[in-house]
Amino acid sequence: MMRHMTKGFTMKTNHTCHFKHAGSMKEVSRNSVHLVVTSPPYPMIEMWDDLFAEQRPEVGLALKEGRRLEAYEAMHRELDTVWKEIFRVLVPGGFACVNIGDATRTIGGHFMLYPNHARILSAMIRLGFTPLPEIVWRKQSNAPNKFMGSGMLPAGAYVTQEHEYILILRKGDKREFKAEADKEHRHASAFFWEERNTFFSDVWFDLLGTRQNLEDKDVRKRSAAYPFELPYRLITMYSLKGDTVLDPFFGTGTTMLAAMAAGRNSIGYELSDGFAEAIDERTEDILAFSKERIAARLSNHMAFVKDRLASGKEFKHTNSHYLFPVVTGQERGLLLNEPESLVKTGPNTYEMTYSDSAPRQVIEAWERMAADAPQPPEPAIGKKRTKTGEKRNPGRSKNTDKSHPEQLELF
Ligand SMILES: C[S@@+](CC[C@H](N)C(=O)[O-])C[C@H]1O[C@@H](n2cnc3c(N)ncnc32)[C@H](O)[C@@H]1O
Repeated sequence: MMRHMTKGFTMKTNHTCHFKHAGSMKEVSRNSVHLVVTSPPYPMIEMWDDLFAEQRPEVGLALKEGRRLEAYEAMHRELDTVWKEIFRVLVPGGFACVNIGDATRTIGGHFMLYPNHARILSAMIRLGFTPLPEIVWRKQSNAPNKFMGSGMLPAGAYVTQEHEYILILRKGDKREFKAEADKEHRHASAFFWEERNTFFSDVWFDLLGTRQNLEDKDVRKRSAAYPFELPYRLITMYSLKGDTVLDPFFGTGTTMLAAMAAGRNSIGYELSDGFAEAIDERTEDILAFSKERIAARLSNHMAFVKDRLASGKEFKHTNSHYLFPVVTGQERGLLLNEPESLVKTGPNTYEMTYSDSAPRQVIEAWERMAADAPQPPEPAIGKKRTKTGEKRNPGRSKNTDKSHPEQLELF
């Protein structure tokens, strides 16, 4: 059931982690999850060999005996049990976003690529998922000159792997929003026009990998967390406020933190309860961090508006909460609910509450900025415009969501 934001109703989200194998998510009902955002252990990457071998002894044996393709396939059979469960728990129209990298490895003197993304994609298609255009996450390399193979001599060198995939699949057809209240709630969950240009690009260049300060060395070794921005964007793109997001390979809970910041509920599954303490520690900063992320989105938007006005472009719409201009009518009801409190409600459960209105400071910041905004130049004679005054094809303008260098002081 969709939970709507109405005046006087305090928006709350709930977050739970189960320390269990995600191949059997008995705690989660059929058709109850709106979005899955996850990153499994990567088959054929050595750091995960023991974990796969603990779950499937044939993995260990195949690796020991150099039966590389059998080891690869057995690891994927283990992951397949989770993809099957995901299909069961997702609502019709719900999305699954899977971050996965391929592996390169030499076994018994034989070097090859293990195309994990292709294996997972075909398994999920067989289960009934609809594959959609995926994202290549181009990781920023620290070693751009790292070569594999025969150096400068032709026909014996290998391309350096510096990307991972974010596979995007849907269960069934598009989700429907027929009732008026559902439509309104969908509009309140909108993202900015200029954010869309970055978020929906098929190559993400701007997300850095992450290294965490985890006390426990074993936990640190096995965490392999992705950056906060990765689940945060995907959650913003593929779910609504109040929806439920599931991460079956929870690790240190980055997906939960992103769900908290974005006003979504979350459920996690994680094999190792050794992560419990690290998850708890990470929630300590999430309130302040969420406020900063929301403030950055709002200040980036205002800076975008200022630049666009200065270049003589017009806005036809005003956001009804923040009172600043927006490019499309779809952004009029957009509201980024700011988290107000986080309570630990049980051993592995949390509840977050949110404000239900735009902070006064943001509205005032926009008023000050609008007063100082440079006057738009006179439109150049002969410039082609549509009947409404908009330049043709605004959606194809160049990417404008680079984090704005001069961040505004909002809070
Ligand atoms: C790549 S890490 C995920 C990291 C995570 N995104 C984070 O933010 O820390 C994969 C995690 O999945 C867990 N895992 C592996 N197989 C699992 C299974 N069958 N069920 C639940 N968790 C599993 C591992 O213990 C590991 O913590």
